Amino acid sequence: MIRVLVATDKPFAPIAVDGIRKIVEGAGYELVLLEKYTSQSDFVRAVANVEAVIIRSDKADREVIEAGKNLKIIVRAGAGYDNIDLAAATAHNVVAMNTPGQNSNAVAELAIGMMIYMARNLYNGSSGTELKGKKIGIHAFGNVGFLVGKLAKGFGMEVYAYDPFIPAAEIEKQGVKAVNSADELYSTCQYISLHIPANEKTKKSINFELLSKMPKGATLVNTARKEVIDEEGLMKIFKERSDFKYLSDIEPDCKNDLVAGFSGRFFFTPKKMGAQTAEANINAGIAAAKQIVEFFEKGVTTYKVN
Ligand SMILES: NC(=O)c1ccc[n+]([C@@H]2O[C@H](COP(=O)([O-])OP(=O)(O)OC[C@H]3O[C@@H](n4cnc5c(N)ncnc54)[C@H](O)[C@@H]3O)[C@@H](O)[C@H]2O)c1
Repeated sequence: MIRVLVATDKPFAPIAVDGIRKIVEGAGYELVLLEKYTSQSDFVRAVANVEAVIIRSDKADREVIEAGKNLKIIVRAGAGYDNIDLAAATAHNVVAMNTPGQNSNAVAELAIGMMIYMARNLYNGSSGTELKGKKIGIHAFGNVGFLVGKLAKGFGMEVYAYDPFIPAAEIEKQGVKAVNSADELYSTCQYISLHIPANEKTKKSINFELLSKMPKGATLVNTARKEVIDEEGLMKIFKERSDFKYLSDIEPDCKNDLVAGFSGRFFFTPKKMGAQTAEANINAGIAAAKQIVEFFEKGVTTYKVN
């Protein structure tokens, strides 16, 4: 019998677990739950006897993959999959997948919500500004970026986007102006919303040089990954430009420096919250379970990332 481990340090909502159970048991497989585990070794032990694993932000590192002697597939319920050691997975013939698009709306709403919060001076009682009429640059026009663009248009913003992997014509079809470089995007837009993945090319790529091109009243919104920010550059721009603001779904490593010197110009969520909605939780978990069943039953590998 195929056993599917759900290894979630931060568990899915009970309703999502029920949905996953229905799909897994409906296919005749067994569901194994490992929730709120206290050490990585619990995960390593639990993976020893299973064929499939569903994770959230949990680390499927080399040790986990090597311990999974029967393991065939790991699905990250969510978009980013930098918590899976892809090289180790490939070396052990384990298919790694994500569930793109399932939590995009939740993340997009958070990005817009944080923008309004900052535009209204963190609701401190003083007069703020509106999003309407401002230019927003979407840095990477994937699932989340596309939705941020759509919502921003609803607020009357002028939407620009840069994504070298999507033809300009496709971006423009959405009523969004496609630009040819990150430099052009940052020089044009007062708001930048980041949606690039964290990889060798993008890590620390949002640096002082790029940020300093942004027009007066600049606000950077990061619901992607903290690793894409060059935090030294970020601190430099905070010191040089009193108009610069930063919003982040991820607590930055430079948190203490921001708290100490730049109150009112930044906000970050206490923990990663972009995908933390009931809807996203359910969608991503259920998509992961369906992908596992389709993989074993029909060999479908649509969202394979390794
Ligand atoms: N805060 C959260 O909870 C949360 C939730 C979901 C996703 N995320 C993050 O947001 C990122 C975007 O998610 P998504 O679902 O839109 O992913 P996606 O895969 O749908 O889109 C990523 C886009 O980035 C583009 N891209 C890749 N490299 C680029 C580069 N160097 N420059 C410009 N564009 C580039 C790709 O062409 C693609 O269109 C994820 O990688 C993840 O890190 C965070």
